[in-house]
Amino acid sequence: MIVGSAIKNMGLTLGVLLTGVLWAGQTMAEVEARNEQFAKEHASQYESWKKTSESSERTDALADDPNMVVMWAGYPFSKDYNKPRGHYYALTDVRETLRTGAPKTAEDGPLPMACWSCKSPDVARVIDSQGEDAYFKGMWAKGGPEIVNTIGCADCHDTGSKAFKEGKPALHLSRPYASRAMDAIHMPFEKQGRFDQQAQVCGQCHVEYYFKAPTKSVKFPWDEGTSVDDMERYYDKLGFADWVHGLSKTPMLKAQHPEYETWRAGIHGKNNVGCVDCHMPKVRGADGKLYTDHKVGNPFDRFEQTCANCHTQSKQALQAVVQERKDAVHELKLKVERQLVHAHFEAKAAWDAGATEEQMKPILQDIRHAQWRWDYAIASHGIHMHAPEVGLKVLGTALDKAADARTQLARLLATKGITGEIPLPDISTKEKAQAALGMDMQKFISDKQQFLKTTVPAWDEQAKAAGRLAQ
Ligand code: HEC
Ligand code: HEC
Ligand code: HEC
Ligand code: HEC
Repeated sequence: MIVGSAIKNMGLTLGVLLTGVLWAGQTMAEVEARNEQFAKEHASQYESWKKTSESSERTDALADDPNMVVMWAGYPFSKDYNKPRGHYYALTDVRETLRTGAPKTAEDGPLPMACWSCKSPDVARVIDSQGEDAYFKGMWAKGGPEIVNTIGCADCHDTGSKAFKEGKPALHLSRPYASRAMDAIHMPFEKQGRFDQQAQVCGQCHVEYYFKAPTKSVKFPWDEGTSVDDMERYYDKLGFADWVHGLSKTPMLKAQHPEYETWRAGIHGKNNVGCVDCHMPKVRGADGKLYTDHKVGNPFDRFEQTCANCHTQSKQALQAVVQERKDAVHELKLKVERQLVHAHFEAKAAWDAGATEEQMKPILQDIRHAQWRWDYAIASHGIHMHAPEVGLKVLGTALDKAADARTQLARLLATKGITGEIPLPDISTKEKAQAALGMDMQKFISDKQQFLKTTVPAWDEQAKAAGRLAQ
C-alpha cells in the first residue's frame, strides 16, 4: 500500500542538514512583503503561488446551514461566514466580511489588530520592524494601510536570507507567537526535522488561537496540549470566553480552525506525512527541474503527485473513502446542532422564567463544552480527511454534553411550570434566522459597501505612496 518511503527518508536527512545551516543565517534584511518582487528570481514558485487565485468560489456557510446563526448569536460569525478559498483571497476576504465591520477611522472597532494576523506577509514585516507589542496595539482599522499584500512568500520563508536568494526553502516561522507555541508543545522549530518544520509553517495560521487580554495579542491555547480536552481545560482554568451567547447567556468559546492540531492526531500526522506532502507536492517544471508546487489547494486535483506517491489505490477509490467519511462527519454535525439550537432557546426560556445564576451554571458549562467540541471538529476544515476518527469522537462527546444540558433544562423548566417543547422560531434560512435574532443586516451590509468604496481605496493609496505595494 505504501511506496516511496526510501525517497522520503533521503529527503529527510538532506532537509535536516539544510535547515540546520539556514537557521544560523537568519534574517539579514527587512522583510519583503511584496510577493511580486520574487516573480523573476523564483518564477516557478511565484507562478504556482499565484494560481491559488483559481480557487475563487465563495461558499456562504451560513446559507448552507442556518443553525450556525443561532449557535453564534451575539458574535460576529452570525453575520457572515464563508468557507475557505485560495490564499490569494485572504486579504480581500478579511476586508469584505461583515465580521470586520465598517470602521471609518483608525480607532474605530469592532475588531482588534490581531485579526490581520493570518492574512498577510505584511504582518511579518511590521512585527519584524516594530515588534509584537506595537503590531498588536490598536484596532483592526489601524492596520489598513500597512497590511496590504495577501498571504505570500514572507509568511513562510526567510526572504532576506542568502539561502532563499539561492533558491533554497529557508522556511521559518514569521510569527513569534507561533514559535512560542511550538516551544510550549516541546517542538521548537529550530530543532525539528524538515517535515515537521514544513507542517509548522502551515501551523502558524491553521490552528486554534485566542486574543489574550489586555493587549489582544494572539496566543495558541496549547500550554496543556493540543487535544480538544487539553484546550478546553486550558480555557476553563483561565476563565476565558470569546463572547456571551445572545440567547442562553453562556460564556462561549469559538474554535478558529485547528487543522494543525487535528492533523497531528490523525493517521497521516502520526506517520510523519505532512501538509506539504498533500497540499504542496514537488512537481517538474517546463525546464525539467523539480520545484515545490505553491498552488495550495485540493490534493485530489493533483492525485499523481500527492496520494499516488504513497498509495496504490485509484483516485476514485480513495475519493470514495474520503467522501464516505465526510458524510459521516456531516451527519453527526447536524445532530449536535439540532440539540444545541434547542438548548440555547431552552436556556433563554429558563432565564425568562426566573432561573438563578446558580441553577444555570452547570447547564451553561455543558452548553459551553458541547459547542466548543462541535466547533473544534467542524471548524477544522478537512477533518474528514485529516483525522476522521477524531472528528467523530469529538462530535460524539459534544452530543452527550448537549443532551446533558437539555435534560437539566427540562427539569429546571418543569419546576417553573413549563413543560413541553420550547418552540423554535423559523430559522430555515440564513435571513430568517438572522431576523429571528433581531439582527439589522441591511445596515451592516450598506455600511460595509460604503467602507469598501471609500476606506479601502484610501488604504491602498496610502500603501502605494509608501511603497508597500508593488507598482
Ligand atoms: C504557505 C507557505 C508558503 C508560501 C506562502 C510560499 N512558500 Fe515557498 N515553499 C514553501 C514550502 C513548504 C516549500 C518546500 C520546503 C521544503 O522542500 O522543505 C517551499 C519551497 C520554496 C522554494 C525552494 C525551492 C522549491 O521549489 O522547493 C522557493 C525558492 C520558494 N518556496 C519560493 C517562494 C516564493 C517566491 C513565494 C511567494 C511567491 C513562496 N515561496 C511562498 C512554503 C511556502
Ligand atoms: C499566514 C497564514 C497562513 C499560512 C502560513 C497558511 N495558510 Fe492556508 N489559509 C489561510 C487563510 C486565511 C485561508 C483562507 C483564505 C480565504 O478563504 O480567504 C487559507 C486557506 C487554505 C486552504 C483552502 C484553499 C482552497 O482553495 O480552498 C488550504 C488547503 C490551506 N490554506 C492549506 C495551507 C497549507 C498546507 C499551508 C502550509 C504550507 C498553509 N495553508 C499556510 C492562512 C494561512
Ligand atoms: C494525507 C494528505 C493530507 C495531509 C497530510 C493534509 N491534508 Fe489538508 N486536505 C487533504 C485533502 C484531500 C483535503 C480535501 C478533502 C475533501 O476533498 O473534502 C484537505 C483539506 C484541507 C483544508 C480544507 C480546504 C477547504 O477548502 O475546505 C485545509 C484548510 C487543509 N486541508 C489544511 C491542511 C493543513 C494545514 C495540513 C497540515 C497541518 C494538512 N491539510 C494536511 C489532504 C491532506
Ligand atoms: C507521503 C506518503 C503519503 C501520502 C502523500 C498520502 N498518504 Fe495516506 N497514508 C500514508 C501512511 C504512512 C498511512 C498509514 C498506513 C498504515 O498505518 O497502514 C496512510 C493511511 C491512509 C489511509 C488509511 C488510514 C485510515 O485513515 O483509515 C487512507 C484512507 C489514506 N491514507 C488516504 C490518503 C489520501 C486520500 C491521500 C491524498 C490526499 C494520502 N493518503 C496521501 C502515507 C501517505
